[in-house]
Amino acid sequence: NLFWMAACYLRSLFTAKAGHRMIRDLRVALFNHVQRLSHQFFARRQTGAIVSRMVNDIAQAQNFVGAALTNVWMDSVLLLVLFIVLLNLHAMLTLIALALMPIFLFSIKTLGSRIRRASREVQQRVEVISGGLQEKIAGVTIVKGFTREPEELERFASQSDKLYNRVLRSVHYSAINEMLVGFVVLTAPGLVLWYGSRQILQGQLTVGELTQFLLYLTMFYGPIQRLSDLNVLLSNSLAAIERIFEYFDMQPQVIEKPNAQRLRRVVGTIEFDKITFGYERGVPVLQQIDLTIEPGETVAFVGASGSGKSTLANLVPRFYDPDEGVVRLDGHDLRDIRLADLRAVIGIVNQETILFSGTIQENLLLAKPNAAPSELKEALIAANAWEFVSTLPEGLWTEISERGSNLSGGQKQRLAIARAFLKNPRMLILDEATSALDSKSEHQIQDALSRLLKERSSIVIAHRLSTVMNADKIVVMERGKIIEIGPHQALLKRGGAYAQLYQEQFFHLTP
Ligand SMILES: Nc1ncnc2c1ncn2[C@@H]1O[C@H](COP(=O)(O)OP(=O)(O)OP(=O)(O)O)[C@@H](O)[C@H]1O
Ligand SMILES: [Mg+2]
Repeated sequence: NLFWMAACYLRSLFTAKAGHRMIRDLRVALFNHVQRLSHQFFARRQTGAIVSRMVNDIAQAQNFVGAALTNVWMDSVLLLVLFIVLLNLHAMLTLIALALMPIFLFSIKTLGSRIRRASREVQQRVEVISGGLQEKIAGVTIVKGFTREPEELERFASQSDKLYNRVLRSVHYSAINEMLVGFVVLTAPGLVLWYGSRQILQGQLTVGELTQFLLYLTMFYGPIQRLSDLNVLLSNSLAAIERIFEYFDMQPQVIEKPNAQRLRRVVGTIEFDKITFGYERGVPVLQQIDLTIEPGETVAFVGASGSGKSTLANLVPRFYDPDEGVVRLDGHDLRDIRLADLRAVIGIVNQETILFSGTIQENLLLAKPNAAPSELKEALIAANAWEFVSTLPEGLWTEISERGSNLSGGQKQRLAIARAFLKNPRMLILDEATSALDSKSEHQIQDALSRLLKERSSIVIAHRLSTVMNADKIVVMERGKIIEIGPHQALLKRGGAYAQLYQEQFFHLTP
């Protein structure tokens, strides 16, 4: 008996281990896949919704593995053995006992697919809730600032109601399932008893034989019930697994060719050759862009909001590929270059600085994992960030909260610049933040930027007068097209769009 207990324990342990191992591998594979999907995927979905699929649906799939895989084989074998035993005991009684089996099979088949559908909808609702929740928690400042708490509560409650209704529907189906199986399990022995007693009265069966038959029959129903529960569980998990595989079926838009070249020495000529691009089909955001950025040149992009400046910059690290035309680096089509190599030579300082929770040091090391402490210091000094970092009580080991919310805007920007210094890339993309800073920070950042831009081919989406004026070339964009190109003085003399922009925007707004 002790042996049997140990066997039982080991069986559960090993099957569970195998199952959970499978789920663990699935989880990691999913993360790996999602990480490789293109910008488009992330731009179109809520962060919380993606997270929900990677956490909740995986957990749902795991349910099945955890609870079910242990029993299914044992039970199937047990059923088969019992069936043979029963058949040997009394064929007619066995037939009667199994007369209601079609109900069981029916319930497995039709209810299974309904439960699956209902469960899909439940997971869908969970995803909607997670998406909204993540946004509203990340943006709690806005919620509070506009005193939207009551409306948000109402919205959340109504979404929870929808989820509740979906859950109820799924529960409804599993209850029907349970009822049908219960009916089979309770009624069949009755039928057997009824037929058996008639046989006994006619002298064709003994009481002992009937009792024995009934005894085995009862053993038959345990596994049947478990298999039907399993059916519910399986249907739920299949719904989750389907949803997980929807992600696996998505392919990244930007893919590396199998024979992509290594990038050896980079000179830094960036060439846009008749580029047309749109996020949606038929809505071009960039049209017929022709432009060459020479090695070491700083090219400033100006133009109205929405004219396509950031979009054009995003083509260089291949966050998107153009619909028509070619972007080249030193004469190579970007699509022929290994992605990692390409991105290794581009530094990006974005419109909004993204910092992760962790120490300042950890955030800097993203740019160069093996940087020595002295290099970190140099980069911070070059970015005019050392001054404030060194006065923090914990210095480089100061913990940054999520999105860097415990730092000021100017401090975050300077950390981002320090990161770019550390990476020391051949090419730089600078999408300047429009946020106004006090004149000291403004000056410090300006100073750091001019150092950073030196001798790198740079795309600068500029809102600062000095950056624009000092650029080698200024590109004026309007509705996805380049309408003027040239150095500051020449464009001013022309008296066109730039001259007007300069008068309106830079001249009046900059102190
Ligand atoms: N991920 C996206 N999906 C769909 N459309 C987008 C996406 N990003 C930008 N757009 C659209 O593309 C157009 C160009 O946007 P882009 O961000 O390039 O403008 P911008 O010139 O950088 O403006 P700003 O000066 O305000 O930063 C806009 O009309 C915008 O609505
Ligand atoms: Mg922009």
